[in-house]
Amino acid sequence: MRTIVITGGTDGMGAALARHFLSAGDRVVVIGRSRAKFDALLTTVTGDDRSAKQRAEFIAADLSSVADSRRVVEHLRAHHERIDALVLAASFIRQRRHTTAEGHEASWALFFLSKYLFVTGLAPLLRAAERPVIVNTAVPGARAGAIDFDDLEMREGFTFTRSNAQQRRANELLGLLATGENPGLAYVTWGPARLVRSSFAGDVGKGMKIAAAVLGRLLGQRPDAAVGPIIDIVGAPAPGRAAYRGAKKLTLTVGDHDDRDAARLAAAVGDE
Ligand SMILES: NC(=O)c1ccc[n+]([C@@H]2O[C@H](COP(=O)([O-])OP(=O)(O)OC[C@H]3O[C@@H](n4cnc5c(N)ncnc54)[C@H](OP(=O)(O)O)[C@@H]3O)[C@@H](O)[C@H]2O)c1
Repeated sequence: MRTIVITGGTDGMGAALARHFLSAGDRVVVIGRSRAKFDALLTTVTGDDRSAKQRAEFIAADLSSVADSRRVVEHLRAHHERIDALVLAASFIRQRRHTTAEGHEASWALFFLSKYLFVTGLAPLLRAAERPVIVNTAVPGARAGAIDFDDLEMREGFTFTRSNAQQRRANELLGLLATGENPGLAYVTWGPARLVRSSFAGDVGKGMKIAAAVLGRLLGQRPDAAVGPIIDIVGAPAPGRAAYRGAKKLTLTVGDHDDRDAARLAAAVGDE
């Protein structure tokens, strides 16, 4: 039986994936903040209800907290021998800079620091799988120079666009570290082909809220339909790095200093 770990597995695309893999007979570990959403999710799984409940595990965590992310990684290492697929889909969109209780810029903490801790901390469990895969739902294609190494937490000049591009680029570079350590690992940065009608969890202005609601309703894909390509990638992972929009494979963005930049990111998080 495969073991599939999904951050942000209580809502949106993460929940659609959890529902699919539980219905397909996999063991699924869901990480999110809301147990109520997890309980509701379990009622939507098809097939043998009791068996799905036995194969489902919920870990409550705030992944914008470095301490909580570390706690979850330790829990997984203590209670699981192997992870076949790790899907990173936790999301909370912030239009403005926000500092966590630990003093980190919240989007950087959720969209990069936490993912870094999961990818590096769970490497031994992924190595134990026959065909391990990480699907990181960070939209690929940000420019190679999108990271400000002198101010990773954007104390100066924070904008949603800059912060978003920086974390997306950092997550592509994270693949270099992950596959360098484990050449058998498939590491995929993935974004949907178009807008997905998800919960759009976040703290955003009225304009963005209305745009997401209206566009989502008019043009948005249902989460269950959007995650089809992720299910295919998890089913037949190819070792190495790759980038996708929907089912379309993209050329990876390459810069002159990728290895050096990946090492700088590792050193910066290592100081945490
Ligand atoms: N929707 C789109 O059109 C779109 C477009 C491009 C990229 N994406 C990417 O696709 C992924 C999934 O997006 P989505 O729109 O499907 O998500 P979503 O519906 O907004 O759901 C977000 C998930 O993240 C969890 N979450 C939020 N804050 C958290 C925290 N601090 N700690 C732990 N879990 C937290 C939520 O669970 P709880 O409420 O239980 O905490 C929920 O399960 C994200 O990486 C997103 O950036 C989405």
